[in-house]
Order: sequence, then C-alpha cells, then structure tokens
Amino acid sequence: MIKIAVTEEIPEREARSFETPNGDTIFITQRDGVFFAYQNICPHLKVELEFLENQFLDGDQEFIQCSTHGALFVVETGECISGPCLGQSLQKVDINVHSDGGIYLNQA
Ligand code: FES
Repeated sequence: MIKIAVTEEIPEREARSFETPNGDTIFITQRDGVFFAYQNICPHLKVELEFLENQFLDGDQEFIQCSTHGALFVVETGECISGPCLGQSLQKVDINVHSDGGIYLNQA
C-alpha cells in the first residue's frame, strides 16, 4: 500500500488532487467523515474535471462537478446524475484510511 495523503489535507466537503506513483491524477473528497477517491477523468470527454486547482465540487459543495460541461456526480458513488454523461460514473479509486490518519492506495 502506498500512502497518498493524510486526512488533515482534505477538509469536509472539500477536495484535493494527488498524483499517484504510476502517474495518474486522482482526487479525494470528504463527506460526512468518509473519504472518497476517483480518477480525475470525466466519463464524457475523458478530460480532467477541474478548471481551478482543487475545484472538484459544485457551488453548494454537494456534488462533484465537471468544469467543462457541468456534469454532476454523486460524491459517494461517482454516478453522473446530470449532464452529458448521465448514468455513467467516475472511476473509483480504492483507498483505506488508517488510524495514523494516512490515506493509502490499495493497489497491487
Ligand atoms: S467533459 Fe465533463 S461533462 Fe463534458
């Protein structure tokens, strides 16, 4: 397992991007004390989601939002519920939060 972040870096209803050792860009967000991670790729045109650094959420910080065409994604599942990729999903990244406050990537 690879430590990618610590929980203090990602406040509730905010998101941060990180580069994995294999060069992928992912982002992690916290909702109700639980951390969710996704590949930073919109299922619509396969572009990165954010326009401004670490701006992955909509104005109400309720949904993940793609800055290109405004698609909205459910934080907990990554499913697109509005926009051109309706019904498609962000690619979830498997993470674990350990008692040391570290967020670890679960990868082979
Ligand atoms: S590229 Fe994300 S909604 Fe179109």
